Amino acid sequence: MMLALVCATGVSAEDVAPIDALLEIEGDVAYGEYLATECTACHGGGGRIPPLAGLPREYMLSALHDYKSGVRENATMKNVAMALGDDEMAALAAFFETETP
Ligand code: HEC
Repeated sequence: MMLALVCATGVSAEDVAPIDALLEIEGDVAYGEYLATECTACHGGGGRIPPLAGLPREYMLSALHDYKSGVRENATMKNVAMALGDDEMAALAAFFETETP
């Protein structure tokens, strides 16, 4: 099962910053709003993809962290998470938490 954590790009769970460090970053809501246009194409509601508005930031951050490390397996969201730096994840989490579902 541990082998499954190593993905095609060669990034293993150990290469991803620990979740504690991520949770300590204060997200910039305005920056998160700017970045969110990358997410709403898929997460805008109406389909089977879960909406992001109103998600608690801890939930959002742990979900993104788990996609990045491969703990949570989804090829699409892995690609999305791999492209995001810690400050970007923190900003997105801060923004979506302020959104009304
Ligand atoms: C190409 C489509 C697509 C894009 C773009 C996308 N997502 Fe996703 N996202 C998905 C799908 C599909 C799932 C469900 C994956 C699963 O089953 O785990 C998902 C799941 C998630 C979840 C878990 C939701 C939950 O309720 O557990 C989070 C958090 C998330 N995405 C955040 C983001 C953020 C933040 C962005 C923008 C930076 C983004 N996504 C961009 C398709 C997308």
